[in-house]
Amino acid sequence: MTLPLSPVLDARLQAVLELIQAQVHADIGADHAHLPIRLLLEGRAQRAVVVELNPGPLAQARRHVVRAGLDGRVEVREGNGFAPLQAGEVDSASLTGMGTGTIVGVLQRAGAKLPPVLVLQPNDSPRSIRQWARVAGYHLMAERLTPGYWTYPVLRLERAAGPDPAYLGLPEKAALRYGPHLLREASPLLLQQVREDIVRLAPLAAPGRNAEGELATAHEALRVLEGSE
Ligand SMILES: C[S@@+](CC[C@H](N)C(=O)[O-])C[C@H]1O[C@@H](n2cnc3c(N)ncnc32)[C@H](O)[C@@H]1O
Repeated sequence: MTLPLSPVLDARLQAVLELIQAQVHADIGADHAHLPIRLLLEGRAQRAVVVELNPGPLAQARRHVVRAGLDGRVEVREGNGFAPLQAGEVDSASLTGMGTGTIVGVLQRAGAKLPPVLVLQPNDSPRSIRQWARVAGYHLMAERLTPGYWTYPVLRLERAAGPDPAYLGLPEKAALRYGPHLLREASPLLLQQVREDIVRLAPLAAPGRNAEGELATAHEALRVLEGSE
């Protein structure tokens, strides 16, 4: 018997995988489709829908799904963001390996098609995802920070009513920039990131410049992290 081909995931996609458990999952911007293939092979999803905007990655996703023997359970659709999905069709969705601006744009255009669970891995600061979540009625249920070419954040959001309790008792700007769960967890990786931000921002932080506010936020985060040591 030939075993299905199981793609190896890097640390950031492995962290994403571990935050997903769904009947039907959508991976938007799947490219190679390694994540949805592993989700099915590990029983973390029963079915998946893959959405890809661009023809090259779309063809690659189709090839990889067929090669893994999963074409009966993974549907590959061409399109932009949530447009190729029906409202209520999936329980959760992921968007990974993209800029925060792209991810927030896709979420803002999704309307009623947004599922109750979102797992997001932006390549840059996730602050505007956290801000979007508070307005759109999602709570931050888990966060991970993973090493790689950059330090990659991974966020699991779940639809919930009322203010997000994750932020309680934390300085707001630091929590939005660095993540409430990550600040509480105080991992060595976050401590290193905050210290590097301070070194990078200090020479740029003239009064009235953006970097001045960013530096103050990084110092605020450092106080929380050092308080947890
Ligand atoms: C850098 S790749 C990341 C691939 C994979 N998700 C990962 O994390 O390794 C981003 C992919 O998203 C696709 N993409 C970008 N914007 C999209 C959109 N609005 N809708 C669907 N796919 C999109 C691109 O074509 C590209 O294949």
